[in-house]
Amino acid sequence: MDSDIQDKLIKAGKIAAQIRREGAVKLSKPDTSFLEVMDYCERKIIKLGGNIAWAQMAVNEIAAHYCPAEEDKSFSKEGDVIKIDIGVHIDGYIADNAMTIEVSSSDKHKDMIKAAQNALKAALKIAKPGTKLWELGEAQYSEAEALGFTTIKNLSGHTLGRYKIHSGISIPSFNNKDRTELKEDWHIAIEPFVTDGQGLIKEKGIATIFMMENEKGARSPYARKILDEIKPLNSMPFTTRWLTRKFGKGPTALGLRELQQSRIIKAYPPLVEVAGGIVTQCEHSVIVKDKPIVYTRHENDEW
Ligand code: CO
Repeated sequence: MDSDIQDKLIKAGKIAAQIRREGAVKLSKPDTSFLEVMDYCERKIIKLGGNIAWAQMAVNEIAAHYCPAEEDKSFSKEGDVIKIDIGVHIDGYIADNAMTIEVSSSDKHKDMIKAAQNALKAALKIAKPGTKLWELGEAQYSEAEALGFTTIKNLSGHTLGRYKIHSGISIPSFNNKDRTELKEDWHIAIEPFVTDGQGLIKEKGIATIFMMENEKGARSPYARKILDEIKPLNSMPFTTRWLTRKFGKGPTALGLRELQQSRIIKAYPPLVEVAGGIVTQCEHSVIVKDKPIVYTRHENDEW
């Protein structure tokens, strides 16, 4: 691998890991504003010299894709199971990592959090050239099962590319029989989601996360303003409050609707466990090597 690329990944990973841990500490206290924590994470990514790829979180039966809107008044509550998922890039080279905490002194879901950590650890150990995708999946699934849980089958890890969160290959968290082999220097995000529910998610609720899908012109001035704003992101995700704070709620809503209808952007609504099960998640980004380089690991991570 080009050492310049590796340096960028490692720099992005260091920032992503620090922000993930800082955000997790804040969220683990009750009565913490989700909006304030996510704003803090975004500001701090920039301050540390990174670029925001995303700062997202999800609570209890929501697995992912929740991002507080400008008017969101949600606070952490005792016993909440909160996932924080932070993406940072340097020159388009992405570090993607996530972890789960339980609010306050509650430890009702300690085992489920542990199961996601164990699943990730088991997969990272074999993130080497030649390992087959099904083997990574099996490694994760068996750790979840060992503690009495299951993994979410329709969520997966992914290869990362330059300015591409998902560059084509999905990393399963169960044995899906995929015999594709990992190749040296791929950088991949491995992210088991564990649940006491059915092990499936569906989209539900109002999207606050979007991504550019097709680059083409828009008609209305509202939509054009949004396009000008998101073009420099190079197809990385964006969230509603970045726009409402600049353009106001009404114009943003009109612009977003037009952009979705003309398939210029795609909405990513919250992902909810179908049986209402609680969901935990643990994620690292890794460069595939005989000795895998886990570039989002924080010194306090036990996984
Ligand atoms: Co990811």
